[in-house]
Amino acid sequence: MQDHLPDITPYWHQLENHLRILTKNYAYQEIHFPVLEKTALFTHSIGAITDIIEKEMYTFQDSKQQLLSLRPEGTAGCIRAVIEHKLFEKNQMHRLWYLESMFRRERPQQGRYRQFYQFGVEALGMKNPQIDAELILMSYRLWNQLNLKNQLHLEINSLGNTDTRERYKKALIEYFEKNISQLDLDSKRRLTTNPLRILDSKNPDMSFLIKEAPCLLNYLDEESSKDFSVLQQFLKESGVPFTINSRLVRGLDYYNKTVFEWSLVNSHSSQNTVCGGGRYDVLIERLGGPPKPAAGFAIGLERLITLWMHSQNLQLSSEKPYIYLIQQGPLAEHKGLKMVESIRNTFPNLSIEADYLGGSFKNQFKRADQRGAVVALVLGEDEMRVNAVTVKWLRQNRAQSLIPIHELTEYFNEIL
Ligand code: HAM
Repeated sequence: MQDHLPDITPYWHQLENHLRILTKNYAYQEIHFPVLEKTALFTHSIGAITDIIEKEMYTFQDSKQQLLSLRPEGTAGCIRAVIEHKLFEKNQMHRLWYLESMFRRERPQQGRYRQFYQFGVEALGMKNPQIDAELILMSYRLWNQLNLKNQLHLEINSLGNTDTRERYKKALIEYFEKNISQLDLDSKRRLTTNPLRILDSKNPDMSFLIKEAPCLLNYLDEESSKDFSVLQQFLKESGVPFTINSRLVRGLDYYNKTVFEWSLVNSHSSQNTVCGGGRYDVLIERLGGPPKPAAGFAIGLERLITLWMHSQNLQLSSEKPYIYLIQQGPLAEHKGLKMVESIRNTFPNLSIEADYLGGSFKNQFKRADQRGAVVALVLGEDEMRVNAVTVKWLRQNRAQSLIPIHELTEYFNEIL
């Protein structure tokens, strides 16, 4: 789990600004939901035989023996909230977004954390492949805005409907059973429980076997196949480059039809996926809601920020104070606090920092300079005697002046 110190938070802030503009541009509405949910919600939606549920959830019993988990992803909680608050009774379709922390007890390494942030969007109630295209175009627009469009590559696949997957599972089981001696322990176990997951294996000893396995796209039902072609046509017409990866099955079980991932170009590590998503047309009903189709994606923000900072050589720093108050002596300390409060009243957008450490003027000026302040207001005994303040510009070529305290806001009004 990571701390975000002030040297990094400006990047988060700027990225959030981009995301807010993007979601407004596509008319998505913000939603918040709790960090804790009943464990069963995640098991039912993500699927019991997945890495997330089997190995990665932070789960505990509360004092009433209820099994609760920290959310490992956002879709399940978002849909639970939509069902619980009966949002479909008000509207047939919803476009929602969230920016929340998620928790997975994975082996920590660069780009893989146990607490990480996701920006997620969920488009509910729409069956047409236009919405799949909208989601992909939305993510592509973000890469464009961040100047990253050449760094990320889109892969798409279609998982078909339930029937497709049943037929495909049978074919996979048959194929892997014939080659059972080449399967590792995990895959042998998954052969009967969730054979699709075997395709996700990162074991290099099995890569040839997986490469030669039956291809999912050959088992697609007619509707999925048609929707997948329509999506490809939309993407071509919109100039979004993509490749079809028939091995892309995603690590969560709620998907059907279109799935997609954006990954770093020229990187083969398993942490190179920045964004993943797809359709999940049966999840809402499975969780007790009305039978409504849905699709969405989520971006791992740590991965996106790392990519953005390094590839653009961005140099953002946290907000510097404009005014820095320097004061000396008990009288000045008393006056100083009131004076900066009244400047804040008039200029709520101005950043004003007061030095309460005391010490020599020299040391206080040094600190003002380190903080990058533009102007220092100096209140010492000399100033107190005439009820005025010395205004000293630290970064601009303006004359130092002695301003009566009651004229200070007027002085800044003229300058600002
Ligand atoms: P996911 O592929 O599990 O999908 O996660 C989405 C993104 O979250 C990943 O592509 C990655 O960038 C980031 N991520 C995942 N795990 C970690 C980690 N341990 N550390 C850092 N970043 C990580 C979902 O979660 C789905 N709920 C997406 C979705 C929304 N599908 C439909 N709607």
